[in-house]
Amino acid sequence: MHLLGLVVLTLATVSVAGGKGPPPPVNIRKCCRLGEHLEKTQKCAAGASLKWVPRVWLIARNQLHQPVGEAPRHFRILENTQPDTCQEPEFIYGENKFVIFSNGSLFLDDRNLVVPTETYCVERDSALVCLPAHYRTFHHNQPYLAHPPVVARKCCGPSGAWSQLNSTCVFLDNRTLLQNFPFANSTHVELRYGFPECKNNDIAIADHFRLENFMEETGMLILESGKQFHSTEFCLEHTLDEINTYVSVFTCSEHFSHPKTAPVPNNDIRFPLYAAGLFISVVFLLATLLASFLVPSNHHVLHWRCQTHYVACLLVGDLLLAITQISGNSIIGPACTIIGEFIEMRI
Ligand SMILES: *[C@@H]1O[C@H](CO)[C@@H](O)[C@H](O)[C@H]1NC(C)=O
Ligand SMILES: *[C@@H]1O[C@H](CO)[C@@H](O)[C@H](O)[C@H]1NC(C)=O
Ligand SMILES: *[C@@H]1O[C@H](CO)[C@@H](O)[C@H](O)[C@H]1NC(C)=O
Ligand SMILES: *[C@@H]1O[C@H](CO)[C@@H](O)[C@H](O)[C@H]1NC(C)=O
Repeated sequence: MHLLGLVVLTLATVSVAGGKGPPPPVNIRKCCRLGEHLEKTQKCAAGASLKWVPRVWLIARNQLHQPVGEAPRHFRILENTQPDTCQEPEFIYGENKFVIFSNGSLFLDDRNLVVPTETYCVERDSALVCLPAHYRTFHHNQPYLAHPPVVARKCCGPSGAWSQLNSTCVFLDNRTLLQNFPFANSTHVELRYGFPECKNNDIAIADHFRLENFMEETGMLILESGKQFHSTEFCLEHTLDEINTYVSVFTCSEHFSHPKTAPVPNNDIRFPLYAAGLFISVVFLLATLLASFLVPSNHHVLHWRCQTHYVACLLVGDLLLAITQISGNSIIGPACTIIGEFIEMRI
C-alpha cells in the first residue's frame, strides 16, 4: 500500500512538472528603489516595507499568490524603473485598484483593462501606467494631476447588469447593452467600472439616470431631489427589471439615511417607576394646594401667594414629566416641543 502510494505520488509530481514546467521569467518594474515608495506627487520617497509587491494573480492556479507582498519566484524585479512608452503615465492609487497577472500583464480593475509589462511600474499600493492612446484623449493632453478626466462608472463591469431579486451583479455579455450605455461613445467622459466604496457595502438605487442631470464639466450628478453626487459617489447600471428602458443610479445608502432617534427599549423598568414617583408627588402637591386653600386667613399673606404659585407650577411640571415618562417615543412633532417648553418653564 505504502509503496503504491509513493509511486502514484511520484507519477503525479512528474506529470505536473513535465506538463507545465516553471513559468517563464517576467520583468516587473518597481517604480522606486527598494526601501522607497511612490508618493501621490509621483515622486519617490524613503520608507517602505520589504514586502512591497502588490497582489499577484496566479493564472494557472486561479488564485492570489501567497504571501501577499512577496514576489513569485519567476518575477525579475527591475528597481527604480518607470515605463518609457509614454510621456505622462497615469498615477493609480489604491491597492485594490489593480492586480499583476503571473504572466506580467497588469489588470486595472476600474477600466477592465489589461496592459503589458513594459507599460507600467508598481509599488505596494500604487502604479504608474501608460494607458492605450484611446484613454489618453480623456486627459486633454494635460498631466493627470492638472486635469483629472471626467469619469462615470458602470457598476457591474462591461458585461454585467443588476439583479434586484438577488441584490447582485449578473453577467449578460450583451454587446448591444454596453454600446448603448451612457457615455459608451463619449470623447470627454471616460466610462469606468465598479461601485462606489460604501460603509458596510450598503448600496442603494437613488433614481433613474437622466443625461440632463449629469454635469459634463465636473462629472457630478444632481438628482431631481437636489441631492448631489461626486463622480466617485455613484455608478450607473441596468437593472434586469428595466433593462430596455432605464439605467439606474446607484449610491451608498448612507446618503439617504437620516439620523434616527435613538431606540428606547420599551421594557426599561425605570420609565414606569419615574412616572409612578412623579404621579405620587403630583398627588401630594395637590393635597398641599387644597389644604392651603382651606385656611382662608392665609390668603392675603404674600408668602402664601408665592407658595401657592410655586406649588401649582411644580404640580403642572411634574404631571407633564410623568406623562412624558410613560408615553416614551409616542409624543412627536409640535406636541413634543410644547410639552418640553412647558416642563422647562414650570419647574
Ligand atoms: C496575461 O494573462 C491575462 C489574463 O489571462 C491576459 O489577458 C493577457 O493577455 C496575458 N498577457 C500576455 C502577455 O500574454
Ligand atoms: C437568483 O438566485 C437564485 C438562487 O441562487 C437563482 O436560481 C436565480 O437564477 C438568480 N436570479 C438571477 C436573476 O440572477
Ligand atoms: C441584448 O440586449 C438587447 C437590448 O436589451 C436585446 O434587444 C437583445 O436581444 C440582447 N441580445 C442577446 C443576444 O441577448
Ligand atoms: C455607440 O456606437 C455604436 C457603434 O459604434 C452604436 O451602435 C451605438 O448606438 C452608440 N451608442 C450610443 C449611446 O450612441
